[in-house]
Amino acid sequence: MNAAGSAASDDAGDVAPTKELLRVKDLVKYFPIKRGLLSRAVERVHAVDGVSFTIGPGETLGLVGESGCGKSTTGRCILRLIEPTSGEVWFAGKSVTALSGRELRALCRDMQIIFQDPYASLNPRLPVGAIVGEALIIHNLTKSGREFEERVVELLETVGLNADHMRRYPHEFSGGQRQRIGIARALAVSPKLIVCDEPVSALDVSIQAQVINLLEDLQQQFGLSYLFIAHDLSVVEHISTRVAVMYLGRIVETAAAEDLYNAPLHPYTQALLSAVPIPDPAAKRGRIMLQGDVPNPIHPPSGCHFHTRCPKAMAHCAVKTPIAKEMAPGHVVACHLY
Ligand SMILES: Nc1ncnc2c1ncn2[C@@H]1O[C@H](COP(=O)(O)OP(=O)(O)OP(=O)(O)O)[C@@H](O)[C@H]1O
Ligand SMILES: [Mg+2]
Repeated sequence: MNAAGSAASDDAGDVAPTKELLRVKDLVKYFPIKRGLLSRAVERVHAVDGVSFTIGPGETLGLVGESGCGKSTTGRCILRLIEPTSGEVWFAGKSVTALSGRELRALCRDMQIIFQDPYASLNPRLPVGAIVGEALIIHNLTKSGREFEERVVELLETVGLNADHMRRYPHEFSGGQRQRIGIARALAVSPKLIVCDEPVSALDVSIQAQVINLLEDLQQQFGLSYLFIAHDLSVVEHISTRVAVMYLGRIVETAAAEDLYNAPLHPYTQALLSAVPIPDPAAKRGRIMLQGDVPNPIHPPSGCHFHTRCPKAMAHCAVKTPIAKEMAPGHVVACHLY
């Protein structure tokens, strides 16, 4: 059995599902910061600092954490849109990090991404048909102009748009419709995994549910897996099979969605969850207010990155990095309290 197929449960923040599609192991991304006339890299942003997780076929992993904790960087490294500093990514048993050129492009067809800002990610000068169908041309997936058009119409209808929309331009659409165009574009190459990078954060609350419902329907229809990135636990609650909570470049807790919401173990998860409104007014959850701001990722705190803001911090939290422990089947936490 190769490394991608092994059901290791010793990785930080890792829960092995029965069969995995994606495996991320010890992923690190440091961005060098260049200052001064000579532009020498003097410091580094510790954007992603040893992240590991797996995603099974048809599964959604919610990746949650405050702004700047490294969620997008993680998603982009998986697709090799940016080069990781170190670590490994396997997709369907193949090493994404070891491949290059044609092999990498072929593998990356199975992994797509949809972005937070559906306007900035769509070329304003191209009609929607050309945007949605671009990958069909790049990958030579249709044989004639007619076949191309039929496929584009099919994709538009799949996401709740129609043939008339093909010749219009992105600015003629609402935010929700634009996100649908982004989703149609991602679906064009029939991917197995879609990294959804805060796909509803920029949309009105009333539209958010529609787009999430669409993503859920598409998952059922095409057996898709999602890495669903959000900064708010309430957004990922319903769509996620499992949830991973990230703080300053590291995953601090991973669990089945239900377990994470019912019995959060990490003080950071508890604080994030205490900010999520609960529909039942009789049920009260005390709000845990975190002290201070998220520390600068150029100089992350020693030991446990969260110790400077943790209400339960102990002396050695500042010294030793906590090792991930599996507290219940599939419920992994990296905290010295356990
Ligand atoms: N190209 C880059 N060069 C330098 N630093 C970067 C670069 N991209 C991201 N960073 C830094 O890396 C850290 C992680 O950024 P990232 O965009 O991954 O966070 P995020 O969790 O997606 O945040 P948000 O919720 O705001 O989207 C941040 O401190 C960010 O400023
Ligand atoms: Mg982001």
